[in-house]
Amino acid sequence: MKRRDGSFVPWAAQRIAKASREDADAPIFGAPLAKARALSPAERRLVSAFPDRGADPAGLQKALARLLDRSLANGRTPRFENQLFSGVADPAMAGALLGLFSNNTVSTGEIAPLATEMERAVLSWLLRLVPWDGARAGGSATPGGSFSNLLAMYLARKAAEARHGADAIPRLAYFVSRAGHYSIPKGADLVGLPRGAMIEVPTDAEERMRPDLLADAVRDARRQGRIPFLVIATSGTTVAGALDPVRDIARVAESERLWLHVDAAWGCFGLLGPDAARFRAGLERADSVTFDEHKHGGAPVAWSWLLVRNGAALEELRPPTGGGYLFHRKDAVREEADLGLTSLACGKPFMALASWLAWKSMGATGWKRRVAHAAKLTRRFRDGIAASDRWELALEPQTWLVVFRPKVPAVTSRVARDAVSRDLRRRINASGRWMINLCPMPDGYAFRAIFTNPLMTESHVDELLAHLARSAGASS
Ligand SMILES: Cc1ncc(COP(=O)(O)O)c(C=O)c1O
Repeated sequence: MKRRDGSFVPWAAQRIAKASREDADAPIFGAPLAKARALSPAERRLVSAFPDRGADPAGLQKALARLLDRSLANGRTPRFENQLFSGVADPAMAGALLGLFSNNTVSTGEIAPLATEMERAVLSWLLRLVPWDGARAGGSATPGGSFSNLLAMYLARKAAEARHGADAIPRLAYFVSRAGHYSIPKGADLVGLPRGAMIEVPTDAEERMRPDLLADAVRDARRQGRIPFLVIATSGTTVAGALDPVRDIARVAESERLWLHVDAAWGCFGLLGPDAARFRAGLERADSVTFDEHKHGGAPVAWSWLLVRNGAALEELRPPTGGGYLFHRKDAVREEADLGLTSLACGKPFMALASWLAWKSMGATGWKRRVAHAAKLTRRFRDGIAASDRWELALEPQTWLVVFRPKVPAVTSRVARDAVSRDLRRRINASGRWMINLCPMPDGYAFRAIFTNPLMTESHVDELLAHLARSAGASS
């Protein structure tokens, strides 16, 4: 058989190298945001046609290059404000690329000695940030915050089952604020909880869960014969970046014997910043914490951890049967280091290299600077919006994002306000320079700007404020 491979990796590496050399302050890989074109009919045919026969590598690379340049939206620029991941750290990307290239899988120490050591090292560094007994705590790497939340719900459900028996499952109830992430009800479904198991706890005016109403809701649920077993607090809600009062929620969790999961997918990196105490408060009582590295943490999408106060809880993930082809039980001592035993996955990429390299190159002091930089930019943007005659703050920022909306006459209906916001978003993004998102708030749509990309500077913030002023001016 004619050997055809061997030319793609150097080709891809060359493109990446070229793009990263141009990366300094305006990274570009693909087309500028909203300028990413929809595919032409011919391009769509090229993408979807079933490949009966293999293509000539040079021709295929040329065609793919064209697609990447014209139709891939550039998610690397600090002007990408659409989602919470923005700002992959250069060493993290390098680590991820090398880790993927190795094609190693972190299942057993035998096949992945280095990957295993590195994953364990990063886990131990993350556990230092949480006020737990480090010797007892544990964690499992996952492919994203949704998976970490799912895993937390699985462990909580298993603990409830052990305590109340399997017959109790249809009566289980869990509590989360209205602002909790959508992965939570999805996770509940996946771990076999009935749809009605979720009880939404109202938030205060700052989008934080009301612990007093949590306590009421737990009592009501018990009165109705339900079995409360889990509360999920969010440290950095997806839309508003709000910090639920974990300490007060923990008190309720403790007195009601609920598993406390803290979804800190967004807020976790506050633990590395200059005001870490604000993010740590109450975590000592948490049973599990979701810690995303691809949001503020500089890792490429998607890379997360579930940290657990009692590492033994992860034993629930051990294969109930099977797995003998991989985990050789005779070698039990060595096997205890096998991360695959306490992982959702069997095959898992060597992504720990991304975090390891980022941490080693930045150090704790580098992270602190990074979080402080994000806070400084957030303040600058917040002040700009507060001083604007076209825009207003929807909330005071609690983390590194600002939620704001256009000023409209007080009599404007919600429907009309939302229509103005949608139109404004189109104008803002049409330039192809910035991409910013609309998010639902209790009183209608608001805009959300995110400041965690370390490439973002004060002049980017000023540019965004000017762009917003122009866009709003043009629409009035
Ligand atoms: C608070 C929170 N939890 C969980 C998630 C899900 O994370 P992922 O996108 O890694 O699945 C998000 C995503 O934005 C989030 O904001």
